Amino acid sequence: MIKYAADNIRNEEGKTEFLRPVYHFTPQKGWMNDPNGLIFYKGYYHLFYQYNPKDCEWGSMHWGHAISKDMFHWKDLPIALYPDKPYDNHPEGGCFSGSAVEKDGILYLFYSGTIKKDGKVYQTQCMAYSKDGIHFEKYENNPIIKEPPAGASDDFRDPKVFLVNGKWYMVIGGSVGGADTGGDGRVFLYTSEDLFHWEYTGNVLESNGQYGTMFECPDMFELNGKWVLICSPMYHPENNKIMYCVGDMDFESCSFHVEHRGTLDAGFDYYAVQSFLDEKGNRVLIGWQNGWLWMPWCEGFGPTAAEGWRGTLSLPRIITLDEENQIRLRTTENLESIKTLDWQEENVKVSTTKYLLHPKDPFSYEIRMTGVAEEIESKYLEIGLLSSDSHRTILTIDFIAGILTIDRSNSDEYGSGRMSCLIEKNSGEFDLQILVDHSSVEVILCEKYCMTTNIYPTKNETECYIRTPYKQALLRKLTVSTIESVW
Ligand code: FRU
Repeated sequence: MIKYAADNIRNEEGKTEFLRPVYHFTPQKGWMNDPNGLIFYKGYYHLFYQYNPKDCEWGSMHWGHAISKDMFHWKDLPIALYPDKPYDNHPEGGCFSGSAVEKDGILYLFYSGTIKKDGKVYQTQCMAYSKDGIHFEKYENNPIIKEPPAGASDDFRDPKVFLVNGKWYMVIGGSVGGADTGGDGRVFLYTSEDLFHWEYTGNVLESNGQYGTMFECPDMFELNGKWVLICSPMYHPENNKIMYCVGDMDFESCSFHVEHRGTLDAGFDYYAVQSFLDEKGNRVLIGWQNGWLWMPWCEGFGPTAAEGWRGTLSLPRIITLDEENQIRLRTTENLESIKTLDWQEENVKVSTTKYLLHPKDPFSYEIRMTGVAEEIESKYLEIGLLSSDSHRTILTIDFIAGILTIDRSNSDEYGSGRMSCLIEKNSGEFDLQILVDHSSVEVILCEKYCMTTNIYPTKNETECYIRTPYKQALLRKLTVSTIESVW
């Protein structure tokens, strides 16, 4: 009998948890959304996250906390921030998303205290600090930023702090006109000499009716002399829920000249991404692998609450810019150390009949394939994941139309529809990486196009295959690996 990794028992009640991913981070119990405060501090990666320990529904936000040496094996630590102050203690608010920096050995957390009074929402920027990275104290003079800039709406959250030429900067997400009332998204910039006193200097990004009503979780960093701004737009007209902009930034005049923009991930479930530097200086991204009900395709949060938990974080991805300043995304090296090769083959011929891949653990594996579009006679590949006679998740690459699609219309009892993104047509050589982890599917094509989606299979959905709609295809190399559980 196959021993599935998720037959491991982690749940306090001793329940078997089949849907829980085995190499992605999930909370022990309760609700999780955005990753917060990602930082490498005193020899460990620190991950904080939006957390409701009491329930598998969103509410009363705490900051959960875990540490790791490799960004895969995480050790849970005590909750870092409780919603326990007059400026952050509302059940429909709490300690909202934010970031971390280190200064003189002290770890500083910045977050949005959120409360409601007489139906009005108050979001202020607050700070907490720690000398050991475990116990945190909220700053006695919180909030450090008491209100949004003049003319902005109450949506004022998710501070991301960073250092440029010895000066501290903070980007904060906001809106003019309101997130839910057709407003216009903004990313505000603040600056500080000491992390305690902050001054508003202007807007880094304005939607001008084009990119959404509010920009959640903004982040800004430098790559190869260019500046990259990332945010999670609400109600983006083309449903780009995780936007990047690449361009030049002048911090003195607060002007960001955007050269091009796009989406970091075109799947169903990837949002509220945050970046940080790893030990070696790589810029790494981790996102929340879910979405909110306001997203047109969001059909709820799936059935994992029955296992006592909700919320998955994506695997860390290294972001770089290529020679043309285009975004590149790849998984981190540490993934290799939890992978074992099942088999690999070169010059694989695929046709209309299913070429079955038989991963050893059908719920925890990686597939990698390389090929050349010209060697696929139909210029079309279909990859079936988590499939059985009754259910299947289908990934297709159409090299003529230049479209990558994930189809979950028949994946399970919970989700429907497809998501697509445009890719280069006839793209010559290609490299596809697929990571399946129980209820998580991550796809990276040519380090350029990512699609992350949650699927809720049963134990019957063990099949994984490749085929073409007609004629033959040659794959240069095909690799199937098991990914071991990190519990
Ligand atoms: C993004 C977000 C943030 C907010 C947090 C609340 O997913 O809506 O803007 O701070 O979640 O949990």
